[in-house]
Amino acid sequence: MKKYLRPSIICISVFSIFALFLAIIIFQTGAQVFPPVPPPDCGGPTIGLTEGPFYKSNSPERKSLIEPGVIGTKITITGYVYDTECRPLTGVWLDFWQADGRGNYDNTGFRLRGHQFTDATGRYTLETVMPGGYTGRTAHIHVKVRAEGKPELTTQIFFPGNPRNTRDGIFDPSLVARKSEGDGMQFYFDFIIASH
Ligand SMILES: [Fe+2]
Repeated sequence: MKKYLRPSIICISVFSIFALFLAIIIFQTGAQVFPPVPPPDCGGPTIGLTEGPFYKSNSPERKSLIEPGVIGTKITITGYVYDTECRPLTGVWLDFWQADGRGNYDNTGFRLRGHQFTDATGRYTLETVMPGGYTGRTAHIHVKVRAEGKPELTTQIFFPGNPRNTRDGIFDPSLVARKSEGDGMQFYFDFIIASH
């Protein structure tokens, strides 16, 4: 019995040491461990909303819009792009643009503007700041979504609990991101792209 017990103890010890090292690495690097993405709601395609006056083409490719001098509270939005059969779409072009935390757009450069592509699982992740509202508008992030063989979608993402939501004539409750449980400013938003 003892000769079987000893290897088990060694295995448990090695695993414990590995787990301890992993915990130390995560703690020291500040690596962010995201909670799992909730299941998608593929009940219908994501609706389109007005582009507004501030779109600029040829934004830089980047997943993070955070850079020195950007005003606002850091947030992360992540999710998937699906077709209406709930199949994830890879390599989808997403172009984001938004106001900073004080409600101002950069119309001379590309601050808080950037595009990226969904990965091999159909997922995107955007690091940015919580946009501020401006005259007549609640907090929102504009986005264009272009999936191969499908019509381009232009829409906006909104945020839960903003008192300006009910006073914004463009606001649509189906476009509100879901806030993650727990601490931090982590949001989820899935896009469902119609075929026609
Ligand atoms: Fe806007």
